Amino acid sequence: MSRIAYVNGQYEHHLTAAVHIEDRGYQFSDGVYEVIAIHRGKLIDMAGHMTRLTRSLDELEIAWPVSPRALDVIIREVIRRNRIRDGIVYMQITRGVAPRNHAFPPHHNSALVVTAKRFPPFDFDAANKGVGVITTPEIRWQRRDIKTVSLLGNCLAKEQAIRAGCYEAWFVEDDGNITEGTSSNAWIVSADGDLVTRDASNAILNGITRLSIMKVAREHGIEFTERAFSVDEAKMAREAFVSSTTSFVKPVLTIDGDPVGDGTVGPLSAKLLAFFGEHMKAQSA
Ligand code: PDD
Repeated sequence: MSRIAYVNGQYEHHLTAAVHIEDRGYQFSDGVYEVIAIHRGKLIDMAGHMTRLTRSLDELEIAWPVSPRALDVIIREVIRRNRIRDGIVYMQITRGVAPRNHAFPPHHNSALVVTAKRFPPFDFDAANKGVGVITTPEIRWQRRDIKTVSLLGNCLAKEQAIRAGCYEAWFVEDDGNITEGTSSNAWIVSADGDLVTRDASNAILNGITRLSIMKVAREHGIEFTERAFSVDEAKMAREAFVSSTTSFVKPVLTIDGDPVGDGTVGPLSAKLLAFFGEHMKAQSA
């Protein structure tokens, strides 16, 4: 079965689907995106992703290409046409096609692409495997709160991580504090046992998984603190993990090759992953 993509009003074969060479997403990375998990046929945390998409569009003054309700219908249709029960849906909205000029075009002409991809079903044992991260200087722009397709800094750092045999790179500001990963948020369980993640500001993308972890933590009476933490503090931590739509809660066992805690998956990380699994299950019940 060939994959189907939605491109500006048409359902097309994924292999040949294309946008115009003067799309501002292509020329200026002038666009935003969302990635939503599909678990047992259900979209996970759809409302949160739509709220963040609205915010990203508003911050960049990009008009909705179709109404939010129509986008919802298109997303579900792409999932249906690709017969996906477990996987992800990707949507990208750019400012659209216009003669190349840095200033915004006078008329709204937003472009919409929606694709979907099959993943193996959520498997707790597979998800509960630990990974390594490296740290790397924060080289990105100052509006990391917007989920823009401008991801070159993220790509460079991810490639560095892969070449180092690691899963993720954590960005570090000049003051030594970690912001987030290249495609995930960063968490630690400090030496004192506090669950900590960076506070939401323009320094990080406010992950929907991050917010759901906070929700399930609250529901289970697990306290957490939203504050900056340094590489030194992370290296002294008992546990560490990353969170994202595609990684869920992913235990981190090494930072720059140094073991975190005793170098095994920590109890709180394992617990939060299990709670997150339940959170997904509840939405697909
Ligand atoms: N990335 N920080 C960055 C820079 C990200 O790119 C992502 C997600 C996150 C976590 O956000 P969420 O929990 O909403 O997935 C944090 C997606 C998965 C991606 O680019 O593929």
